[in-house]
Amino acid sequence: MSWFPEKRTQDSWVHRFCSSILKCGPIPNHVAFIMDGNRRFAKKNSMESAEGHLKGFDKLAETLEWCLHLGIKEVTVYAFSIENFKRSRDEVDCLMELARQKAKLNVCFSYTSREEICTAMRELAEGVEQGLIRETDVSEELLERCLYTNQSVEPDLLIRTSGEVRLSDFLLWQSTFSVLSFLEVLWPDFSIWHMYAAILHYQRSYAGIQDAKEENHRLKDQLSQESDKESILQETICSCGDKDQSEQCCHSDKCDLDLVSLRDKLNRFVGERKQREEEFIQKLNQKRDAFLENKLPARV
Ligand code: FPP
Ligand code: MG
Repeated sequence: MSWFPEKRTQDSWVHRFCSSILKCGPIPNHVAFIMDGNRRFAKKNSMESAEGHLKGFDKLAETLEWCLHLGIKEVTVYAFSIENFKRSRDEVDCLMELARQKAKLNVCFSYTSREEICTAMRELAEGVEQGLIRETDVSEELLERCLYTNQSVEPDLLIRTSGEVRLSDFLLWQSTFSVLSFLEVLWPDFSIWHMYAAILHYQRSYAGIQDAKEENHRLKDQLSQESDKESILQETICSCGDKDQSEQCCHSDKCDLDLVSLRDKLNRFVGERKQREEEFIQKLNQKRDAFLENKLPARV
């Protein structure tokens, strides 16, 4: 069964016109959705909650088609948080069945961001304990590579429906530079016009967000270089007899430590650190693949 509606909706000329205007500006590569408001929609229309979720599923299928036409390359949806397990057995079963029947899309199911970050931190601590990486190797970049979403780019735009203005533990780390769009519409009522409005909002915020991202990259590079340099200096014994001295020690008259050899040492150190990190991530991915292989039903 496909995530796309079996009967494709024909684009009206108005939609084609609006899409082509929007495509003159930047289009987000990755959009994340918090699809909220299914039960309020059901109540408003005198339906059972399960029917509200079904309408929500149909809306998801329709929305994926709009995303495809707009040139959005990646979509992440929050289908079920760990908190949602507290709901009634019938409702949980209904959502699980939907996921089972239609799961050809990567969906955040039984997910919370804080659990994801804790797991990543535990993996890093284990890596240090096993000697795969050093404590000083732990950085934002390495933690990011331990998140479940490590194969994805960060969402450029995050849309939440139903009027709630919070992230509900969804992609907290990944949404640092996402444009957030909180819409006053229940998810099953979400229309292409809401989608256009969110993209317009993204386009208006685009320049500011790009500047903030660049500044953040620059700062991260600087921090990483400083941390590598610090580690090297900690290991360096100058001929003046001092260990653990600051870089200035190497400039003193007494000290003949060659700055070129210090630079070589730094390059070697960075190379070795990157290799350690690659091997650690490779092992982590193998462990996760093996876990999923065990959990997923055998393919027929
Ligand atoms: C939030 O609305 C919605 C959910 C908890 C479920 C989201 C699931 C779908 C849209 C169906 C798609 C299913 C899959 C498997 C991808 P709510 O139940 O919190 O409604 P409320 O905010 O009105 O109470
Ligand atoms: Mg809700």
